[in-house]
Amino acid sequence: MGRHSLVGGLSIVGGVPLQGRVRVGGRKNSAVALIPAALLAAGPSTIDNVPRISDVDSYIEIITSMGVTVDRPTPHSLRIDPTGLINSVPSTEVVRRLRASYYLWGVLLARFGEAEVGMPGGCDIGQRPIDQHLKGFRALGAEAVIEHGVVKLKARRLVGAPIYLDVVSVGATINIMLAACLAEGTTVIENAAKEPHVVDLANFLNAMGARVVGAGTDVVKIKGIGSGSGGRIRSTGALRGADHAIIPDEIEAATFMVAAVATRGDVVVENVITKHLDPITAKLRETGADIEENGDWVRVRMAGRPKAVNVKTAAYPGFPTDAQQPMTALLSTAEGTSMVTDTIWEARFKHVGELLRMGADIKVEGRTAIINGVERLSGAEVEATDLRAGAALLVAGLMAEGETVVKGIELVERGYEGIEQKFRQLGAQLERLPDEGDEGSAPAQLRVLKSGS
Ligand code: EPZ
Repeated sequence: MGRHSLVGGLSIVGGVPLQGRVRVGGRKNSAVALIPAALLAAGPSTIDNVPRISDVDSYIEIITSMGVTVDRPTPHSLRIDPTGLINSVPSTEVVRRLRASYYLWGVLLARFGEAEVGMPGGCDIGQRPIDQHLKGFRALGAEAVIEHGVVKLKARRLVGAPIYLDVVSVGATINIMLAACLAEGTTVIENAAKEPHVVDLANFLNAMGARVVGAGTDVVKIKGIGSGSGGRIRSTGALRGADHAIIPDEIEAATFMVAAVATRGDVVVENVITKHLDPITAKLRETGADIEENGDWVRVRMAGRPKAVNVKTAAYPGFPTDAQQPMTALLSTAEGTSMVTDTIWEARFKHVGELLRMGADIKVEGRTAIINGVERLSGAEVEATDLRAGAALLVAGLMAEGETVVKGIELVERGYEGIEQKFRQLGAQLERLPDEGDEGSAPAQLRVLKSGS
């Protein structure tokens, strides 16, 4: 995401220890997989606990443009009726807004034997290759080419196959699962991603009549239901619609947990699956935080300055790369030197330049950030360069002395519902600044809040 797209700003007066309770919503990276999965059915599905974030809105925009009917029976549920789905080429502009538009490849290929979808967008955090997705589709019998920025897939029939992923990829695992559901015979994905949202998707697909086993381990087997039709492509969805509630978002939870430690606060984070938070909980305890877990909530308390720790991101159940940036912000004021290595994305340190403006002492060498903890950060005007970089800057602003203005807050809204209200509810002093383009709002970034009680 480039600076040109920055519009919104958020002013934060830091230094207030966060206190109280906050409720986590449904997992973004599940929602953006389950929405396209619903298109594999012949009838409507209802998905509950859907976060109200702009990535979900973009997905709805894409599928409604393709003939799908989407209603919101409640603020956090979606009824998706794919009866009118037509195999059309979705607008490149919308497809490029988010990464997960690539799940349309697997879904359209399975439904129509043909798909043409532009290359996806998403956060600028590294190269983001798609070779493992294409390798999977080819193993199922599809032709796959990229022409003029469009991924073109074609298959007369899809036949299950063994597929060994060269790298653990969440996206490729999910895309192959989506396509393999309607194939003839069994697909076995080895070295599959084990993330809880892969399990969430498998549960949804199975409720729709698919036969997926092993999700959550590194071997996922999908018995395609296309065998009855000789694996030939059907133009109506072959699964049935189902009802499903999305699991909680562990990265949203991690962000609040990190912010609680960063501000030396006392926060209960509700509606979580504590098991999914293990890598975060363990690392925050190493910094000196006191964490109490109780099934669906965690209480995070911190007194004093955090201790430096080393972090290395890894596929689940390792420390999630999506929580690395907020964690780096926290460690910028830890006592001692921390080393944070991102093994998943090679360019996920764009937030570091902004943290330097706030007085952090961090050097990035390759995939590692070497963080010499400073006593405190001081507020400054900073820009979110991607979704989690934005979350990191909010954490930094919350612990900094004085006012921080985080610009580009719309990038944060791609993945966090009501982040501003939720932090405010925990006592943070935040104020939304008018967009720079708004009339009479020229000095938006200069507006200063009084640091009050
Ligand atoms: C998903 O991205 C998430 N996005 C990302 O979340 C998350 O950072 C990432 O998984 C890792 O957990 C969505 O779910 C929409 P990958 P994805 O395929 O699927 C390499 C956020 O902040 N690779 O698991 O694109 C790749 O370069 C976002 O919410 C290949 O080499 O990630 C990376 O090093 C950002 N070839 C590693 O695998 C491929 O074909 C993991 O990528 C695919 C990936």
